[in-house]
Amino acid sequence: MPVPTETKTEKGFDEKLLDIYNGAATTLMIAVGHRTGLFDKMAEIGAASSEHLARAATLNERYVREWLNAMTVSGIVKYDADQKIYTLPPEHAQLLIRKSGKDNLAVFAQYVSVMADVEDEIVDCFHKGGGVPYSAYKRFHEVMAEDSGQSLVPVLLETVLPLVDGLDRKLEQGIDVMDIGCGRGHALMRMAKAFPKSRFVGYDLCDDTVAFASKEAKERGLNNLSFEVRDVSALGDLEKFDFITAFDAIHDQAQPQIVLNNICKALKSTGTFLMQDIDASSNVEKNLDHPLGPFLYAVSCMHCMTVSLSQNGEGLGTMWGRETAKTYLERAGFKSVEIQKLNHDIQNCIYVAKK
Ligand SMILES: C[S@@+](CC[C@H](N)C(=O)[O-])C[C@H]1O[C@@H](n2cnc3c(N)ncnc32)[C@H](O)[C@@H]1O
Repeated sequence: MPVPTETKTEKGFDEKLLDIYNGAATTLMIAVGHRTGLFDKMAEIGAASSEHLARAATLNERYVREWLNAMTVSGIVKYDADQKIYTLPPEHAQLLIRKSGKDNLAVFAQYVSVMADVEDEIVDCFHKGGGVPYSAYKRFHEVMAEDSGQSLVPVLLETVLPLVDGLDRKLEQGIDVMDIGCGRGHALMRMAKAFPKSRFVGYDLCDDTVAFASKEAKERGLNNLSFEVRDVSALGDLEKFDFITAFDAIHDQAQPQIVLNNICKALKSTGTFLMQDIDASSNVEKNLDHPLGPFLYAVSCMHCMTVSLSQNGEGLGTMWGRETAKTYLERAGFKSVEIQKLNHDIQNCIYVAKK
């Protein structure tokens, strides 16, 4: 894809642009490698020819070979041309296989394909306004659950809940907990299992995700947990809950201020609201060095902002940032708002808010 000379505006920008395109294309290939289990299989069997790997993974050899070549030229896989053998170095495998848990970055590559799936609809919105609804994203809830299932759920009890003083003891004794925008509900399931005397409820707008969560909770025998299809912008609960959580679920709301007002009203006077959201500034000029800046503004435009706009919402966007989040929380009635950062998470911060 040659860049015409007259479009070169600064030295090196042409190379930068090509790097961006190569990175984007490789990201799609990483998503494919994750979904087909090819990275896991490569780490398991070690150095292998395309035939060997395809057989071990029960996949089509021609596709596997082309994928391996894409992985080779992008520097992810090493290739021995004499023996026609491919190797995934252990230090690369560490960041690409399921066994690595929260270190597995391959999961995030899938967001690019999730977004690309609605490109036509987004282009249409650039012309006509409006937004793309949740229902248009075929794999969003699946990928989101996989993401939070590895980045949040395994560390929830160990590092996230301890951010609230004395919460563990209260959960052990038995309190009422609500999760807003619970998705497939794995965070709640982990809490419900660990604290059988407490009562948990998860609300989500999407009926398919609530059906998924309800079925799994039943299969796991979690009787202290229920899920409901509910629009939290019309919550109506008063001083009912001791602890409310929202994991990545406020910035894509249609009416985020109303939702936060409702959360504050639904919380008992001694209760706590824990909100995990994107760690960024509300001002783009302060996000120039953000390690995920381009990725997160793209996710915003192609998902979080547009799902809100599709409901005639505010379209706050993924990058609403710490400054705006704090203002919204205070406006909702929270008198104390602390922002905490967890070492393992470059993407999010945690707001601990009290009335
Ligand atoms: C980014 S996802 C996060 C899901 C989940 N908390 C997790 O971490 O896996 C946001 C969730 O909020 C839900 N949601 C959006 N607006 C909502 C509303 N008004 N009422 C209830 N749920 C809503 C969406 O359906 C989606 O499942």
